[in-house]
Amino acid sequence: MKSVQNHMSKISILGIEGTAWNLSAAIVDEDDVIAETTATYKPAAGGIHPREAAQHHANYIKEVIRETLRKGGRNIDAVAFSQGPGLGPCLRTVATAARALALSLDIPLIGVNHCIAHIEVGRWKTPAKDPVTLYVSGANSQVLAYRTGYYRVFGETLDIGIGNALDKFARSAGLPHPGGPKVEELAKQASRYIPLPYTVKGMDFSFSGLTTAAQESVKKHMLPDVCHSFQETAFAMLVEVTERAVAHTGKNEVLLAGGVGANARLREMLKLMCEDRGIEFYVPEKRFMGDNGAMIAYLGLLMYKAGYRTPVPDSKVNPNYRPDDVEVKWL
Ligand code: ATP
Ligand code: FE2
Repeated sequence: MKSVQNHMSKISILGIEGTAWNLSAAIVDEDDVIAETTATYKPAAGGIHPREAAQHHANYIKEVIRETLRKGGRNIDAVAFSQGPGLGPCLRTVATAARALALSLDIPLIGVNHCIAHIEVGRWKTPAKDPVTLYVSGANSQVLAYRTGYYRVFGETLDIGIGNALDKFARSAGLPHPGGPKVEELAKQASRYIPLPYTVKGMDFSFSGLTTAAQESVKKHMLPDVCHSFQETAFAMLVEVTERAVAHTGKNEVLLAGGVGANARLREMLKLMCEDRGIEFYVPEKRFMGDNGAMIAYLGLLMYKAGYRTPVPDSKVNPNYRPDDVEVKWL
């Protein structure tokens, strides 16, 4: 059946996110999020198991999409999906559903880059126009900014993402997953700072040495003090690189994206840096910070309008999909 666009309505895109633990589908138009449905995989113990997460997504995807279409109550013009980066089994599950839906509705498919979706939803939902973005999540930690046709990566982690570093440290200290919020809470009770390895190499940073040192440190020091010191050290690294990207690009806005952006101390440090430099600091509403279907749908909308289409033979997922591989024709 051909999906016919009602001539009164605006372009509407359904987007599906499922790169890691969060499965989420949303319909957006240019003005707002029309509907969103989310099903979250919670590991029974330990961290994310890629195949378990993919099985979770496979179990819920039909319901998540059906519910979103029902709540949206309108025809959609295209199906967007996270093509990467992310966990291979999860990406493949979502891509399979996206292809099937696009084919059955006879509408275009659009594969989107997950990192760029974080930036674009931030530009949509805050006043930011052309920011330096600090994208900090479980698997990703990058400093990005637009320059000459691409979102360039100005700095990034050389090993693990800051969220995974926090989660790994927290797990070894006996705290439940996800560790980030627990570390933040405990850090408030700290009474001293313990020096930990601060690793910035050029414009890149690294968290595995810090994580190992913090795991060792817990044997000798109070847990809240180590949590505080972990945060201060890691966030100072992120802020340093963000500030240097600002200086280098001459941009006058900073946008925070990703699940770790929920952290109040990280926000405070970034805000201070921005105030010092006399530039703006933007943080979207919490629902648009962690992984969400709306950001995939919204980037899909921008790309749809700019003429992007992903024929099924080109829709293979890419677990290492880099934001600077995407030519930006929608700006
Ligand atoms: P991606 O696929 O982009 O890597 P993700 O699956 O890791 O994303 P997000 O929701 O972006 O999902 O981020 C989750 C991470 O955010 C977890 O590592 C979690 O510990 C961390 N986190 C959440 N809240 C806080 C907080 N208040 N402070 C620090 N870290 C936090
Ligand atoms: Fe993400």
